[in-house]
Amino acid sequence: MAVAGVTAFCCPLVSVRRPARRRRPTTPRASGSVEIRVCTNRTCARQGGREVLAALEGLAPPRVDVASCGCLGRCGAGPNIAASVSGSAAVFGHVGTAARAAQLLEHLLGGSGFDAAAGLAALAAREKAEAALEKGDATAAEALLTEAIGMNACGGLHLLYRSRSNARLSMGNITGALADAEEATKIAPKFPQAHLSRGDALFAMEEYRHAENSYADALDLDPSIRRTKSFRARVQKLREKLVSADNSS
Ligand SMILES: *[C@@H]1O[C@H](CO)[C@@H](O)[C@H](O)[C@H]1NC(C)=O
Ligand SMILES: *[C@@H]1O[C@H](CO)[C@@H](O)[C@H](O)[C@H]1NC(C)=O
Repeated sequence: MAVAGVTAFCCPLVSVRRPARRRRPTTPRASGSVEIRVCTNRTCARQGGREVLAALEGLAPPRVDVASCGCLGRCGAGPNIAASVSGSAAVFGHVGTAARAAQLLEHLLGGSGFDAAAGLAALAAREKAEAALEKGDATAAEALLTEAIGMNACGGLHLLYRSRSNARLSMGNITGALADAEEATKIAPKFPQAHLSRGDALFAMEEYRHAENSYADALDLDPSIRRTKSFRARVQKLREKLVSADNSS
């Protein structure tokens, strides 16, 4: 990875150990594979590490693997991010805003691999839409998300479809909600929330067994979901429906 000439980040780049190899990989890593790890340990979290993680998840193209990690050292100069491109790794400091995160992606992927302006515009529109949905304005949310989907950003499309699915479900557009949730699972099969939204749409269609399967898919991908209030509420609602269906058959 070309690391010389990066001036957007004030800290010198520090080499980190290459990530441990998986045992007996079945396929060699595609050349150009990119991994990004955002420190969310105490000091970096205080400096906005979690928000930057969320921004990167929304901006990164699907081929980029984004996740959180523990301490990378250099505490206080964060949020710190380790990035590896085709196995060559470096740590970047002071990546504290979505704009900085976009700059980092541009640096790692090259200008032709990432459109920062479109990515940031779509991210901002989604955040606005999710705030509108939170306030109960599903119509405004749906319009903003439709606009954001049209921006042709390189990443975050699964998040846009997932959110629009939720907005459409709130509006009572169940078939639209299901179509969007399915689009999100197609783009990002390992994104648990897309399976939850798909389950919610199927539940609204009274397809309870299919809804159950979608919730189970989400749980397989992220077992920690089981403990969340919203998941427990889904399971409870589903159980009531399945029990009454069994009783009437
Ligand atoms: C997080 O930071 C604390 C100290 O601030 C340290 O004890 C702990 O090991 C760190 N955890 C990880 C996963 O790096
Ligand atoms: C519901 O969503 C579909 C997309 O699947 C869209 O074409 C349709 O216009 C929406 N209907 C309403 C009433 O919003």
